[in-house]
Amino acid sequence: MPGFTREELQSYARGKRAEFEGVLEKIVEIPSVSVDPKHKHDVHRAAEYAVSLLESFGAKAKMYGTKGHPIVHGRFDRGASYPTVTVYNHLDVQPAEGPDWNSEPFDFIRDGDKYRGRGTTDDKGPAMTALFGARYAFEQGVPLNIHFLWELEEEIGSPHFETTIRANAKEFATDSVVVSDTVWVSRARPACPAGLRGLQGFRFELQTGETDQHSGTAGGAARNPVAELSHLLAECVDGKTGKVKIPGFYKDVVPPTKKELEDLRKCGFTVKDFKKDHLFRSLRTNDALDVMKRIWMMPTFEVHGIAGGYHGPGVKTIIPPKATAIVSCRLVPKMRAEKIVKLVKDFVRKKNPDVKVLAEHALPPYEGKTTGPYADAIRGAMKFAFGKEPVFVREGGSIGAVLSMENVLKAPVFFLGLSLPEHGYHAPNENFDWPQAEGGMAAFADYFRRLSQM
Ligand code: BES
Ligand code: MN
Ligand code: MN
Repeated sequence: MPGFTREELQSYARGKRAEFEGVLEKIVEIPSVSVDPKHKHDVHRAAEYAVSLLESFGAKAKMYGTKGHPIVHGRFDRGASYPTVTVYNHLDVQPAEGPDWNSEPFDFIRDGDKYRGRGTTDDKGPAMTALFGARYAFEQGVPLNIHFLWELEEEIGSPHFETTIRANAKEFATDSVVVSDTVWVSRARPACPAGLRGLQGFRFELQTGETDQHSGTAGGAARNPVAELSHLLAECVDGKTGKVKIPGFYKDVVPPTKKELEDLRKCGFTVKDFKKDHLFRSLRTNDALDVMKRIWMMPTFEVHGIAGGYHGPGVKTIIPPKATAIVSCRLVPKMRAEKIVKLVKDFVRKKNPDVKVLAEHALPPYEGKTTGPYADAIRGAMKFAFGKEPVFVREGGSIGAVLSMENVLKAPVFFLGLSLPEHGYHAPNENFDWPQAEGGMAAFADYFRRLSQM
């Protein structure tokens, strides 16, 4: 059994730092924005680069076409008699427009230990970190097959992931999965998700006319779709408190257990850091426990945007013909997306039958495992790399692929996340950093060693 030490891994990482930064630069500078049809070719280029990268690391790699963006699978194979672990990451990114970036979003900027650019922390930095950790473990002779599963549609809800892994279940077969796509509570201590929220997206549309009309000649009698849609949204959710007003919405929510509440109290979360990391001026509540429950354990009804009418300078006195709202609900364990779709559709039909509700692809919520040999291996690997055992707390985000992998590959999924709140998931000036990459390489290498001993 390879007896590599933390120090050996540290000097390995130091020696490979320039190579790591070069690889991260290459992948970050490919704008693989999965939601934007304009970037379809870039997403494909990212997949091509990923295949060539895996091959240059000595793995076998293959691209799988889907009806959308491709999936990349790579394998460091030791032999059929050894167990297999699959590392899941995604190489697609969120869009990155807007005035708040201090540099071009798809320029890779190195600033001391900090790496800036869209996708650096979500999820290209962690993906590349895992790859470097795997190469080390493999070269050290860890008796394990290490596979990579890199998705390029995660940020659009993984619409073709499950069918693709089902169709190739033999090649993707694995004993367990480790996902690196989650966030710690703070830099002070590693954290692993004890669960993830699910997501159900909606589009509300209301059309009451054909074209803009003068608000002097028709206003008062004409229906205003922007105002009606706003009214409807306010009937769905109390904008101030966030409380969802649709009857039955909270019915399946399971309150946190005593143990979970204890874990929350000592997980290192503070309202002050939360506000700072996310640049919030104020919150709906300033109670730490209440904030944590709201972001990790409760469902939401969120309005992402309302479009319609005039947005230019000054006033344009028209009545618009239509309005649209983009909405989504975060779901917690035991909630079922189909049920929420029905609740929302029925509620809207009752309140405003002219509003069309279109449901988007659903991501189910996920209940994680925090006990047993795999969870203990995660604990050990985090402690080995970062000097502290992780806290297991639920996380508020969603990863569609997780439940699909458990269902189709029949392999348990565990998490070795490396991102920090201040890295700015989905935000302008997204970043990752060398300490998380260096520790991450050690954590992955040690996790693989522990798996091979199980
Ligand atoms: N890495 C995130 C998921 C995540 C966020 C996990 C925070 C833990 C904490 C992932 O890339 C993501 O952003 N998912 C989207 C999915 C959606 C666009 C379908 C999300 O949660 O909004
Ligand atoms: Mn992600
Ligand atoms: Mn994301």
